[in-house]
Amino acid sequence: MTTIEKNSPETRGRMIAVCSAKGGIGRTILSVNLAVSLAKRNNSVAILDGDFQFGDVSLAMDLQHTFTIKEAMEGITSLDEDRLEEYMSSHNSGVRVLPAPDRPEFADLLTKEAVSKMVNLLLLKNDFVVCDTGAGLNEHTLNLIEKADEILVVATLEMAAMKNTKLLLETLGILGLRDKVRVVLNRANMESVIKAEDGAKILGEEAPVFIPNDFQICSRSLNMGTPFVISHSKSEISKSVFKMAEMIGSNVSSTKAIRKKGKSFSLFPWKRRKGGVSK
Ligand SMILES: Nc1ncnc2c1ncn2[C@@H]1O[C@H](COP(=O)(O)OP(=O)(O)OP(=O)(O)O)[C@@H](O)[C@H]1O
Ligand SMILES: [Mg+2]
Repeated sequence: MTTIEKNSPETRGRMIAVCSAKGGIGRTILSVNLAVSLAKRNNSVAILDGDFQFGDVSLAMDLQHTFTIKEAMEGITSLDEDRLEEYMSSHNSGVRVLPAPDRPEFADLLTKEAVSKMVNLLLLKNDFVVCDTGAGLNEHTLNLIEKADEILVVATLEMAAMKNTKLLLETLGILGLRDKVRVVLNRANMESVIKAEDGAKILGEEAPVFIPNDFQICSRSLNMGTPFVISHSKSEISKSVFKMAEMIGSNVSSTKAIRKKGKSFSLFPWKRRKGGVSK
């Protein structure tokens, strides 16, 4: 990006906020793998670990960070896009990470204004800023969601997840943010009384993104700190995340259209077997 392009509001990067009504639903693993997939498509990508109390993006990417957003916050008045880089950690995929504070109590030190400034700086430097958020809608998560160009609402087919996701979607509707939302049905072929197609109907989402269930690959990926789109790039779960990245990368209506050509895209769930969705 040239300096002129960089300073133009039309050419700022796109912010993708990954949120969910409930915890433990796959926000972090999907954020990390989405970010790496976007980087594989020649985008400059940053992750903001916006789960300020219990963020674990560094762990999921096996990054031994020196600094976190807390230290960046301490220098907020003089912070610019280059200084912010110094607080970030680099992953060998090219993705840069601004980690969450090391201790939950440090989350209270972060102000909405400072976080907003950091988001703006990250958007100046990157094509995409993927933001993993805390579960539910706390003040920081709301702030991040409001800044996002695209909000990925991650859900699973469990009854409680469905109920709370529906409430979250309604709330985002009341806040006028529903148009930015894309529902991601994670573990979509897991054994459940609710089938993936029914889950989509319950949530009132015509075309959710379906991510298959693969406990082995996911737990290995998180425990080893190696994103599965790198270690298991041919697996069905990786293919589904690549498709999501393609869709997000092609959805460039306002910003990246100037720099990159959008492609039309259709997202198909993987092949169906008798008795439900399967990989
Ligand atoms: N598609 C999937 N298939 C199988 N297991 C998955 C899948 N997605 C996530 N998991 C598992 O779900 C658990 C939670 O994943 P993850 O930590 O990404 O969720 P989270 O929403 O970020 O949780 P938290 O609220 O703790 O931050 C992990 O054990 C992970 O391996
Ligand atoms: Mg998480």
